[in-house]
Amino acid sequence: MTAFSRRRGFERRRRDMRVAVLGTGSMGTPLATHLTAYHDVAVGSRDPERGRQRAMELGAVHGGSYEEAAADSEVVILAVPWISVGEVIPVSGDLSGKVVVDITNPYVDGELRVRSDSSDAEEIQLMIPDAAVVKAFNTIFAEVLQGGADFGDDSPTVLIAGDSGEAKAAVGELASGMGYDSLDVGPLTRARALEHLLAGFTAISADSGGDTWAMKILRRDRSERL
Ligand SMILES: NC(=O)c1ccc[n+]([C@@H]2O[C@H](COP(=O)([O-])OP(=O)(O)OC[C@H]3O[C@@H](n4cnc5c(N)ncnc54)[C@H](OP(=O)(O)O)[C@@H]3O)[C@@H](O)[C@H]2O)c1
Repeated sequence: MTAFSRRRGFERRRRDMRVAVLGTGSMGTPLATHLTAYHDVAVGSRDPERGRQRAMELGAVHGGSYEEAAADSEVVILAVPWISVGEVIPVSGDLSGKVVVDITNPYVDGELRVRSDSSDAEEIQLMIPDAAVVKAFNTIFAEVLQGGADFGDDSPTVLIAGDSGEAKAAVGELASGMGYDSLDVGPLTRARALEHLLAGFTAISADSGGDTWAMKILRRDRSERL
């Protein structure tokens, strides 16, 4: 099935989810742009006027402050730098019961500081214990989001980690609606591996002369083995 036919199929579930995208940078803007085609999107910004303006430009339902954007949303995407998460969450209102998507990578002072005993996603889950935190999109580069998921007959894989199956399924639907494959890689602790994977992928795709790199992961079900 091509990315195009997957998108057409998804049109039947149009306006499925209420999604807030917090942050209007290189990741937040294309995420909001693509998601508005199939979902009710709200755009949140540190500058509420920028949030409203960006929402109008992208055709989102509404925009404003982080709290205004997150208020009615079922899914909240944190498209902000890791170092600012501790400031963004307290001003985003009550996130209990919501799916919170952590797309961050642990850049501190311009350096990627991946660790083995924790991850951004797990630390976010500790900050908001009543939300269902899902790690996703951290291995998809901004230029991929901007250019779209269509790589000819292939689509990049969005790797998804989290402790709630329902929350991961919702995020998988968001990804597939944008034309990506999605793969559930296990519990939230696997976010550590996803952050390490991003570090390795960034290293091997550096100096690529401006080409766009994206990962596709293949998995064969054991029942299909000969
Ligand atoms: N760029 C990539 O290729 C890529 C790939 C995978 C994952 N990520 C992750 O995705 C997240 C967003 O990345 P990005 O490339 O979109 O970053 P970006 O272009 O710098 O945008 C981040 C946005 O976050 C908001 N923000 C809130 N607090 C901030 C602060 N203290 N400093 C700067 N911005 C702040 C800003 O939007 P408002 O002012 O409107 O609130 C800003 O536009 C990061 O955690 C990054 O590690 C990036």
